[in-house]
Amino acid sequence: MAKMIQKSTAFERIVHWLLALSCLALLLTGLGFLYKDSLGWLNTLFGGVHAARLVHNWGGIVFAVSLVLSLGTWVPECLKWSSDDSKWLGMAGGYLSKEKAKELPPQGKINAGQKIAGIMVFVSGILISVSGLIIWLATPTPVWVLIHNVCALIFSVIVPVHIYLATAANPGTFRIMTRGDVPLYWAKKKHPKWVKEIGA
Ligand code: HEM
Repeated sequence: MAKMIQKSTAFERIVHWLLALSCLALLLTGLGFLYKDSLGWLNTLFGGVHAARLVHNWGGIVFAVSLVLSLGTWVPECLKWSSDDSKWLGMAGGYLSKEKAKELPPQGKINAGQKIAGIMVFVSGILISVSGLIIWLATPTPVWVLIHNVCALIFSVIVPVHIYLATAANPGTFRIMTRGDVPLYWAKKKHPKWVKEIGA
């Protein structure tokens, strides 16, 4: 049995699942509202337009709260930027060439791509939550609706890519969101600076 080390706490996993499930429900219902003619059928999955509206509004509250609760875990990690991160980005994380993948610079708890995705999620997550509340509870000007829709489109691109990279593209990663632990040899290969930092 391989030696395991902990990469996420129970609190972090619960918050991430609340964020992920609410975000997916918001994306599906939101796309149904935005593209009524072609994607309106998505709302029938939630019991019709009226029920989908309730899921969207209250799901937005769950999303905003879980986003705020995850800031403390991820923002400090996302802001740790070094020349290794710039080099990793320059090599596109090794995803475009098997040769480059062997020479990747060492990464910390999360890699440079995750850091950029994280910042995009947090900035657009705050903007989409604030604009959503204004659309729901006040009289929104068109600019708030535009901000809400542009952020939704950013999420529609980032989220499927994130899910693919955290599952099929990188076997072993999904376990961080279920059990929370990873094999030490895996962590040493993918996140050597973090392993050194925690002295594992
Ligand atoms: C439902 C499918 C999802 C799966 C399987 C998944 C999986 C993961 C995993 C395994 C990590 C930990 C990465 C690590 O520690 O190396 C992670 C982190 C993260 N997830 Fe998800 N996630 C999902 C959905 C989402 C959604 C919908 C969002 C956005 C609202 C999101 C936002 C984040 C953020 C911001 C991080 C931290 C930094 C990063 O890895 O980019 N996740 N996710």
